[in-house]
Amino acid sequence: MFRLDNKVAIVTGAARGLGAVTARTLASQGARVALADLQEAEVAKAAADCGPEARGYRVDVSRVAELRQLVADVVRDFGRIDILVNNAGVCPRLPFETSTEEDWDRLMGINAKSQYFLMQAVCPVMKRQGGGRIVNVASSSGRTGAIVNASIYSGTKGGIVMFSKSIAREVAADNILINCVAPGVLDTEIMRNFPPEKVRAIADQIPLKRLGKPAEVAALIAFLASDECSYCTGATFDINGGWFML
Ligand SMILES: NC(=O)c1ccc[n+]([C@@H]2O[C@H](COP(=O)([O-])OP(=O)(O)OC[C@H]3O[C@@H](n4cnc5c(N)ncnc54)[C@H](O)[C@@H]3O)[C@@H](O)[C@H]2O)c1
Repeated sequence: MFRLDNKVAIVTGAARGLGAVTARTLASQGARVALADLQEAEVAKAAADCGPEARGYRVDVSRVAELRQLVADVVRDFGRIDILVNNAGVCPRLPFETSTEEDWDRLMGINAKSQYFLMQAVCPVMKRQGGGRIVNVASSSGRTGAIVNASIYSGTKGGIVMFSKSIAREVAADNILINCVAPGVLDTEIMRNFPPEKVRAIADQIPLKRLGKPAEVAALIAFLASDECSYCTGATFDINGGWFML
């Protein structure tokens, strides 16, 4: 089940954290993976960890021209694109009262605009091939609102959920299925922006009493990227240890 042999997958934000684990998981299921990230050396290393067929690409996902170039480069290098995992994201601590226009533009660019325009660039390729799977990484903060100084972040993640539903309706006839995952709190680098005592307090509130592991989210993404995911589109999958039950 959930084999991805002969599939080509793009994973953004793949130099570390959830993106790197997702890229390795898709590769372990047989996919050839194109890893995209701002950090050139780190993404090359992450690609090497995915096996000889994987490649790393230095891309700033907030720049639409670079997203279009990425799609052209991946088609040139791999010949097709079957799976897109829109994962790159940042979550700085930004209290509402002191957030700036620059903060708003930067977070919207990296977290939300990137996903929208990479889907726009990839969908024509998938349509020509007869279909594809897109998984957009949202967050529990995009479902319930952020709990700590991350109001712009939560807006980007809520936006992802809504534009994913809307685009899923538009491309369903092309057999392109778009779903979101909304992780709770994961044990990755992004959480280092939050004070450890806050992170511990969150873990105590989670029914499963711990943070999530990137591999647990990657397994869900692998299913959503597979042919077995054939009747889900426009859905958002909460994966949060029971923290929020919507
Ligand atoms: N860690 C969590 O608790 C958590 C919870 C919910 C959702 N998420 C989401 O999961 C995704 C991955 O998070 P993570 O915890 O692995 O974060 P991370 O900080 O460990 O990794 C993020 C990756 O994105 C890359 N990146 C940042 N800006 C970029 C840009 N402009 N262009 C290209 N790449 C860029 C970074 O270089 C890094 O490799 C994010 O979208 C995040 O919002 C994380």
